[in-house]
Amino acid sequence: MRIILMGPPGAGKGTQAEKLTQKLDIPHISTGDMFRKAIKEETELGKRAKSFMEQGKLVPDEVTIGIVKERLAEPDCQKGFLLDGFPRTVAQADALEEILKEMNMALDAVINITVFRELLIERLTGRRVCKSCGATYHVIFNPTKKDGTCDKCGGELYQRNDDKLETVGNRLDVYEAQTAPLIEYYEKKGLLKDIDGSQSMDVVLSNVLAALGRE
Ligand code: AP5
Ligand code: MG
Ligand code: ZN
Repeated sequence: MRIILMGPPGAGKGTQAEKLTQKLDIPHISTGDMFRKAIKEETELGKRAKSFMEQGKLVPDEVTIGIVKERLAEPDCQKGFLLDGFPRTVAQADALEEILKEMNMALDAVINITVFRELLIERLTGRRVCKSCGATYHVIFNPTKKDGTCDKCGGELYQRNDDKLETVGNRLDVYEAQTAPLIEYYEKKGLLKDIDGSQSMDVVLSNVLAALGRE
C-alpha cells in the first residue's frame, strides 16, 4: 500500500506510523526524522534544515522534495510506503504526484488525523523521545516505567527542541497556513480519509486500519 499520513504537529502521525508500518510491512518515511538524523550527524542537509526546524518553520520545498525523491527510489519502496509529514505544501504534493507518475505508481489513501489545538499543545509539550532508539513517549499519556529512561532500550529521554511551548504555537500556525490546504487537495482526488485522533492510540489504530480496509 502507498499511504500518506497527514495531520497537524502532535496528531499522532509518528505513533501510528510505527504500528502501521509493522502491520502492513512497508517502510516508514518521515521527513522530520530524516532531518533530525541529518542534524545529529551534522551533514550538509542537517545544516540547511536546522534553523528552519528550530523556529518551527518548514524546510524549503526544493530541499524536502529532493530527499523524498531519493528515498522513494530505494528498492524497499517497491512494496509500498507510508509517508509521515510529507507532503506539507501544495508544491510538495504536486511534486509527489510527478514522482509517482514517473515511477508508474499511485497513492492508495491519504489518512488525515484530526485533533483540536489545546490537545495538540498538551501532546507536544509533554512528548519525550529516546535518544538511542527514537521511541516516543508522553509524560502523562504514555509514560515510561522509569522516569527519563526508555522502556524498550534503557536509553535516555529528551525533549525535542521544537517541542518547547514557544515554538509549538508557531508550528501549529504554519500547519494551518501551509499544510491544511492539502485536505481539500486530496479530498478532491477522492483519497482523503478523516480519522478522529483525539481517542486512545489503540482506537485510532483500529480506525485507520478499518479506513484502509485492513481490520
Ligand atoms: P515532524 O517531525 O514531521 O513533526 P510534526 O509534523 O510537527 O509532527 P510531530 O512529529 O510533532 O507529531 P506527530 O503527529 O508525529 O505526533 P506523535 O506521534 O509524536 O517535522 C518537524 C519539522 O521538520 C517541521 O516543523 C519542519 O521544520 C521540518 N519538516 C518535516 N517535514 C517537512 C516537510 N515535508 N516540508 C518542510 N519541512 C518539513 O505524538 C505526539 C505526542 O502525543 C507523543 O508524546 C505521543 O506519545 C502522544 N500521543 C500520540 N497519539 C496519542 C493518543 N492517541 N493519545 C494520547 N497521546 C498520544
Ligand atoms: Mg512525528
Ligand atoms: Zn529507546
